[in-house]
Amino acid sequence: MEKGFDFREQLSVMARERLESSSIGEIIELAARHRALSFGAGEPSAELFPKNAIREAVAEAFAEKDVWGYYHDDFGYLPLREWICERMGKDGMAPSWVQPEHILLTNGGGEGVSLVSEALIDPGSVVLVESPTYVESLLTFRKQGAVCVPVPSDDEGIIPSELERIASAVRPRFLYTIPNFQNPSGRTIPEERRVQILEILRKLDFPMLEDDPYHYLSYDAVPPTSFLKLTGNDYRVVHCNSFSKTIAPGLRVGWLVVPPPLKKALHHLRVSAGLGRPTVIQAGIWRYLSGIDFLSRIEELCKNYRERRDAMMDGIKRFLNPLGIRASQPAGGFFIWCESPDSRDIHSFARYSVEEHGIAIIPGQSFFPKGDKRGDWAFRLSYAKVTAEQVEEGMQRLVRAWESYPAARATSGF
Ligand SMILES: Cc1ncc(COP(=O)(O)O)c(C=O)c1O
Repeated sequence: MEKGFDFREQLSVMARERLESSSIGEIIELAARHRALSFGAGEPSAELFPKNAIREAVAEAFAEKDVWGYYHDDFGYLPLREWICERMGKDGMAPSWVQPEHILLTNGGGEGVSLVSEALIDPGSVVLVESPTYVESLLTFRKQGAVCVPVPSDDEGIIPSELERIASAVRPRFLYTIPNFQNPSGRTIPEERRVQILEILRKLDFPMLEDDPYHYLSYDAVPPTSFLKLTGNDYRVVHCNSFSKTIAPGLRVGWLVVPPPLKKALHHLRVSAGLGRPTVIQAGIWRYLSGIDFLSRIEELCKNYRERRDAMMDGIKRFLNPLGIRASQPAGGFFIWCESPDSRDIHSFARYSVEEHGIAIIPGQSFFPKGDKRGDWAFRLSYAKVTAEQVEEGMQRLVRAWESYPAARATSGF
C-alpha cells in the first residue's frame, strides 16, 4: 500500500515541540482498561447531574430563534451573562465595575485559561504557578511557549515572601492561582494572605489569572473574598470560572470576567477561535438556572460531596495514616493531596496499584513544572465520584498495593 502523507514536515513548532500528553490521562485510561476503582477522576459524580431538567431546558431553548444562526454578540448569550454577573455580585465575587459586557462565555473554564494564555504569553514568557498546580493549565501555558515557574506554597497557598523574591527576579507575565479548594492540593488561600499577595502584585506591577471552578463546592464555611473583588478597580485580576462542577462538565460552559483593558484582545481571540460557542447550550443553561433556586442546588451538591469528603478523610485516618502517609484537609472541592513517608517512585507505584490491585490514584509529578522533583513522592486522591462503600474497598486495595509494592518492584520491574 502507498505510504500516506505523514505531516512531519508540516507540523508547527508548537505541535512538534510544545504539546505533551497529560499523565492523568494515562492513569484514567489504565483504570478503565483494568475496570479499577478510581480515586483519580477529578470530575463531578454523574448521578448529581440535573439531567432531566437540563434536557427540558435545552429542548425549550431550541424554540428561540436566536439560537439557530450566529449569535450577534461574540461574548455569548446575553441573558446567561446577565445571570452570571448578578450571581457574582450577590455572592461577593465581583467588584461593581463588572457588568454583563465583561462576561465572556467559554468552552468550559479550560478555554478561559487558554484564551488568557494566548493574550498574555509569548514564547519564553514566565508564568508563576502554585506548587503544585492544575496540570492542564500547565500544559496550556507551555503550549503557548511559557516557562512555568513554581512559587513555593504551604497549607495556606502561595508564600508571599517567596512570591516577592521570585517575581522580583523573573518579571512574570502573570501569576496563575486556584484560590479555593485547589486542584490538586485541596487547600484554600485565606483572605489575609490574598491581601498580601495582591500587595506584591501591585508593588511589582503584574496581573493574576484567578481560576475558581470550585468556589461553590464549599463544605465547611463560605470561601474568602475572591481576588477579583479584593483588587477592586485596578483591573489586575482576570477571573475564570465554570459550570462544569455545579451543573455538568459535558455541557462545556464556563466564563471569563474580562477587565476593560483586555476586552479588545479577547474579543479578537474569541472570533479567531471559532466565532463563539453553541448558543443553544448557553440558552438551555440560562433557562435551567432561571427555573431553580441556585443556592439550594449548591446546598444539595455540597451535602453530597461533604459526605464523600468525610468518608474519604475517615478512610485516610484508618488506612493511610498508619502507613505514615500524610494528607491535606480540604474544606471543599474534590481533592486531597497525600505525601509518602518513603521515597518510592509514585508514578510507577500508581501504575502498579491500578494494574495489579485495581485502584487508581494520580501521581504528584504531573502537577509540577518539568524537572521539579517535589511531586515525586506525592499523589492526589479525589472523592468526587466514590461512595462510602467504594472508599472502604478502594482503601483496602490501596493498602495491599502499598505494602506489596517494594517486593513487586524488585521482582517484576514496576
Ligand atoms: C482548576 C481547574 N481549572 C479549570 C478546569 C477546567 O474545567 P472545565 O473546562 O470543565 O470548566 C478544571 C477541571 O478540572 C480545574 O480543576
